[in-house]
Amino acid sequence: MNKKVCVIGLGYIGLPSACLIANASFNVYGVDIDKDVIANIKSYNIDLNEPSLRSLLKKSIKRKNLKLLNIPTISDFFLICTPTPIKFLNKQIQPDLTFVFQAIDSFIPYLKNKDSIIIESTIPIGTTEKIKEYIFNFRPDINELYIAYCPERVLPGNIIFELKNNTRIVGGINKASTNKIANFYKKFVSGNILKTTSKIAEMCKLAENAYRDVNIAFANELSFICQNNNISTSEVINLTNHHPRVKILQPGIGVGGHCIPVDPWFLISENYEVSKMMKAAREVNTDKTIYVYKDIKQKIKNFFDQNKRLPFVSFLGITYKENSNDIREAPAVEIIKKVSQNFTNFFVVDPFVDEFLNIKTQSIEKALERSDIFFILVKHKKFKAINLNTKKDLIIFDYTK
Ligand SMILES: NC(=O)c1ccc[n+]([C@@H]2O[C@H](COP(=O)([O-])OP(=O)(O)OC[C@H]3O[C@@H](n4cnc5c(N)ncnc54)[C@H](O)[C@@H]3O)[C@@H](O)[C@H]2O)c1
Repeated sequence: MNKKVCVIGLGYIGLPSACLIANASFNVYGVDIDKDVIANIKSYNIDLNEPSLRSLLKKSIKRKNLKLLNIPTISDFFLICTPTPIKFLNKQIQPDLTFVFQAIDSFIPYLKNKDSIIIESTIPIGTTEKIKEYIFNFRPDINELYIAYCPERVLPGNIIFELKNNTRIVGGINKASTNKIANFYKKFVSGNILKTTSKIAEMCKLAENAYRDVNIAFANELSFICQNNNISTSEVINLTNHHPRVKILQPGIGVGGHCIPVDPWFLISENYEVSKMMKAAREVNTDKTIYVYKDIKQKIKNFFDQNKRLPFVSFLGITYKENSNDIREAPAVEIIKKVSQNFTNFFVVDPFVDEFLNIKTQSIEKALERSDIFFILVKHKKFKAINLNTKKDLIIFDYTK
């Protein structure tokens, strides 16, 4: 008989994982507390920017390998994919594990001996061990569980491919857990499965995202220095990257998304004195967003001073990264939110987003027709294909280089 798997939290990570596991001949229960999420999935109203997700979902539901529920049920595997945001507590930024522990509370009554619990949500070092203690405390009748932390490192827009093909880390609370859960992943992952302890796996995930944050901060800091010296950042980076051992990233308008601006705090909050570079990186990347906002305000004012009228402007790109529809923690959203407090003469153009903050996005053609200024905030591939120089007097400021 097929093993049963409860996937808890059907968002960016949980839904594709549930579909993939269901197509590997497990019986999957996809669980989400949000009734709208379940209703949207049932009517296939899901992320169109995720290739093959819809077909995989249809196949799993048709074959009855995937059932959608609001609460967990008896299973052999419980996979936690709930959000892990940050919160302010005692004037400090700290991880908020409420959703992870709510998910655990919801399946504790259904646990039986020899079940497996897998945490895919990003968590601070030592949390998997705490989860083990928490569960055994509530269920002293159970004497054996397999528990492991298995981080995700997928790219939104290519999640199904990366879930299948990326190298995965499986970190158990003991060898038996690591082996049992690594064997589970082997059923639907073709990438390498690397085995370790839960604490190392937790640290690896956080190190990956802190590394990205620090490297982006370096590029953003260079852009500030180039700006001060009136030289082109992109030319400096292009030339510098000809060094065989140097690979500087591109600067941008700050850092967004559910992971990179959030996860370094999971390390900083517990290791405050020794995480100086990570704190500095957070500060530089946040400063970059504030700088871009102030610069846009100044450029609007300059136009007014020169032309004795307010310009009509368009913001190009609002997602947290190129070619994605994800606007979580997106710096562009922050910038537009601030600008719109005392300026309404603008369009927002983003082919991946229809509406945000009650603002409907517009087509690039309409924006070209109407605008005096284009502020490029995120450079989607679709923008690169359009010749913006067709309008003679259009002023373009590109913050992506
Ligand atoms: N999105 C990414 O690219 C990515 C990459 C790597 C790791 N992660 C990590 O994976 C985790 C999930 O991220 P996501 O982007 O999928 O989040 P998400 O916000 O897209 O989805 C989370 C889902 O969990 C549901 N949920 C919350 N509490 C619940 C509960 N108690 N029971 C059942 N459902 C519940 C929510 O309704 C939501 O639908 C996070 O810890 C994140 O850091 C995300």
